[in-house]
Amino acid sequence: MSTRNYDVLIIGSGAAGMTLALKLARDYRVAILSKDEPNEGSTWYAQGGVAAVLDESDTVDSHIEDTLQAGAGLCHKDVVQFTVEHSIEVIRWLVELGVEFDTEVNAEGDNNFHLTREGGHSHRRIIHVADATGREIALKLYEQLQTCDNVDFFKQYVAVDLITEHKVGHKGNLCLGAYVLNQDSSQVELFRARYVILATGGASKVYLYTSNPDTASGDGIAMAWRAGCRVGNLEFNQFHPTCLYHPEARNFLLTEALRGEGAKLILPDGSRFMARFDKRGELAPRDIVARAIDHEMKRLGCDCVYLDISYRDADFITSHFPNIYARCLELGIDITKEPAPVVPAAHYTCGGIVTDMNGLTDLPNLYAIGEASFTGLHGANRMASNSLLECMVFASAAASHIQQQGKSLMPDVVIPPWDESQVTNSDEDVVISHNWDELRHFMWDYVGIVRTDKRLQRARRRVQLLHQEVTEYYSNYHISNDLLELRNLITVADLIIQSAIRRKESRGLHFTLDYPDLEPEAVDTILIPPGYG
Ligand code: FAD
Ligand code: SIN
Repeated sequence: MSTRNYDVLIIGSGAAGMTLALKLARDYRVAILSKDEPNEGSTWYAQGGVAAVLDESDTVDSHIEDTLQAGAGLCHKDVVQFTVEHSIEVIRWLVELGVEFDTEVNAEGDNNFHLTREGGHSHRRIIHVADATGREIALKLYEQLQTCDNVDFFKQYVAVDLITEHKVGHKGNLCLGAYVLNQDSSQVELFRARYVILATGGASKVYLYTSNPDTASGDGIAMAWRAGCRVGNLEFNQFHPTCLYHPEARNFLLTEALRGEGAKLILPDGSRFMARFDKRGELAPRDIVARAIDHEMKRLGCDCVYLDISYRDADFITSHFPNIYARCLELGIDITKEPAPVVPAAHYTCGGIVTDMNGLTDLPNLYAIGEASFTGLHGANRMASNSLLECMVFASAAASHIQQQGKSLMPDVVIPPWDESQVTNSDEDVVISHNWDELRHFMWDYVGIVRTDKRLQRARRRVQLLHQEVTEYYSNYHISNDLLELRNLITVADLIIQSAIRRKESRGLHFTLDYPDLEPEAVDTILIPPGYG
């Protein structure tokens, strides 16, 4: 088995992983993995922008307050403060890297950043690059990484599992590296490192309908759990209210910034409905808007509602939302003239691997950053555009922490090679495709926007069956990316369901008909893996 040695192994090349790689590139030998092409992750698809306190009339306190409000009492205030206080620094750094955020000339003739608005924000504070902010950030980060001699980029490399001292029978709980499937050669390779970082993104692929790319299969969360790390608040799965409803563009998002710039949500008869649910109307936090749409769709038996910005000037629409305009037009919808059909879809995993403010997990040299992590920032509902911010703030914090630790850790432990002696090629790949479909269907039907105990128990029984079947399959056959993702999604689905069953209240994104009220005290749901500690 080929072995590669690095100071730092970063699993994931989104905003979180690439930021960290850049911050460490001068002093450390870094390997960064992407299981697909380098930019295929949620970062690339981010539309709205990055939340930051940039307007003179805005304040750090106001951004903190809005985040706490959206998080429905569960945000960790120290983490919110830490993140928001670093927002300007993050934007400066991106500008230095060459990210060209949109600007506008104000009444005094000054050229300032154009700031848009999204749900939950009481100010205009979303800095953006038209409606493709993530793509621009990812391109600039990637471009910069190409100039770093200390960083090796491995694409089409899927991390299979973390290797810990405990797992190889050694005393201690350091993470030694990971087994990684090279998808080109179909061989498993060993990556050893002093520090390992999970920057693998979220798990929204666990649901049938999602705005996320295929990479969002919760691999990091499942790997961390298997390695003995705690996970937190996984019941808070965010559904974005406005994904395009079209058979040829199933995960295409219509950014919340459209509503920030005045787009209205309307029913098939053309009437508005959001005011009946929240006084902030279309700009209420996402949990409220998604639930309102779900309610109206069920009440009227309709397949979708509509998002209408057509009353605004066509030039404004095409210049602020050029990509959305073009994509919709390709599909026969001219958003300058007509409303677009929309439905909610799974969008963001608010919970994840428990970390501290340095991104450190329960293992002393294993970090988790970005959407894979649970830092305490988002509480029961992430506020729009706080995620890219979190990716970059916590990547920087992890980089500083690693720099303080130096290069001392690297135990001399023998790691057994990947054992394939007992496995064969499968002649029943249908097991994988069937179980993928089954899992995503029942998660959508039973663990979606509105939950009940009965539905959650039903989902629990099904996930346990799938778990048994896939564990057996995994032990007998050669691995593939599809099998690894399915195995991880089943683990994360099980953790989501367990977390949802434990929460006996409705808070933020977790809404259950059996417990419609809030408990007086807001408590995180922390799950502890077998053998923890
Ligand atoms: P990702 O960008 O998802 O990257 C994950 C990386 O991990 C990928 O490189 C993937 O290949 C790799 N990976 C995963 N598993 C493995 C494995 N087993 N082995 C090797 N590599 C692996 N947030 C905002 O703040 N503002 C927005 O405007 C915004 N818009 C969004 C629009 C869309 C359509 C979506 C889907 C999300 C949006 N979000 C937005 C959320 C935000 O984009 C994500 O939360 C954020 O980009 C996550 O970044 P990340 O670095 O944690 O993970
Ligand atoms: C959007 O542009 O609507 C997505 C923003 C986010 O998820 O933060």
